[in-house]
Amino acid sequence: MKILIIGATGTIGGSVAREFASRNEIISASRNGADIQVDISSVDSIRAMYEKVGLVDAVISATGGAYFGPLPELTPENNEISIQNKLKGQINVVLLGLNHVNDRGSFTLTTGIMMDDPVVGGASGAMANGGITAFVKSAAIEMPRGIRINSVSPNLLVESVEKYSKFFPGFEPVSAYRVAQAFRKSVEGAQTGQNYTVY
Ligand SMILES: NC(=O)c1ccc[n+]([C@@H]2O[C@H](COP(=O)([O-])OP(=O)(O)OC[C@H]3O[C@@H](n4cnc5c(N)ncnc54)[C@H](OP(=O)(O)O)[C@@H]3O)[C@@H](O)[C@H]2O)c1
Repeated sequence: MKILIIGATGTIGGSVAREFASRNEIISASRNGADIQVDISSVDSIRAMYEKVGLVDAVISATGGAYFGPLPELTPENNEISIQNKLKGQINVVLLGLNHVNDRGSFTLTTGIMMDDPVVGGASGAMANGGITAFVKSAAIEMPRGIRINSVSPNLLVESVEKYSKFFPGFEPVSAYRVAQAFRKSVEGAQTGQNYTVY
C-alpha cells in the first residue's frame, strides 16, 4: 500500500511509520523535516500536499495540536488552536483528501484519552477529540467508493511520560508500539466508523 502519514516525525507518527514501513510505501508529511511539507491548520497547505502526493491507499493523521491549560484561562482565542489544528485540521485532511484515496482505501485520525477520562487543563483538547470521534462515526456511513474512516484514541504514551505525566496522575501509560497496532487495525482491517481506544 501507499500510505501518507501526517505527523510521521512525531512520537506516535514515528511509531506508526516504523510499523508500516517494511510492507508499504510511506510518504511522510509534517511542517518540517518530512517528505512533504504541510500545515494542517491551512486549507491551502493541505490542498498543496495532496497535489504533490497524488493517489494513496491510506491517509493517517497522527497529529493535531491542541491548547492545554486550566479552564479559567481558556479563552476563545486559545481554544481556536485546538479547533484549527486537531479538530478542523484533521477533518479538512479528510474532506480535501477524498479524491486522493483509492477505492476501498482508508483515513485514520487521532483523538485521545482526555475526552473519556478528563484531566485538569484538558477541556479544549477533549472538545476536539469528541468532535473528531463524532465526525468519524457519522462520516463513515457516507464515505464513497468503499473508503473507510476510523480514529485512534491513545492513553498517555510511555514515550511521552517525561513530558506529560505530571498532567496525567494515575494514568497507566501505553507503549507507542501498542498504539501503532490500533492504526494497523484501522488501515489493514475492514472496520469503519470506529474510535479505537488504547487505554
Ligand atoms: N503522546 C501522547 O502521550 C498522546 C496521547 C494521546 C493523544 N495524543 C495525540 O496524538 C497526536 C500526536 O501526538 P504526539 O505526542 O505524537 O505529538 P508529537 O510528538 O509532538 O508529534 C506531532 C507530529 O505532528 C506534526 N505536526 C504538528 N503540528 C502540525 C501541523 N499543524 N501540520 C502538520 N503537521 C504537524 C509534527 O511535526 P512538525 O512540528 O514538524 O509539524 C510531528 O510530526 C496529538 O494530537 C496528541 O494530542 C498523544
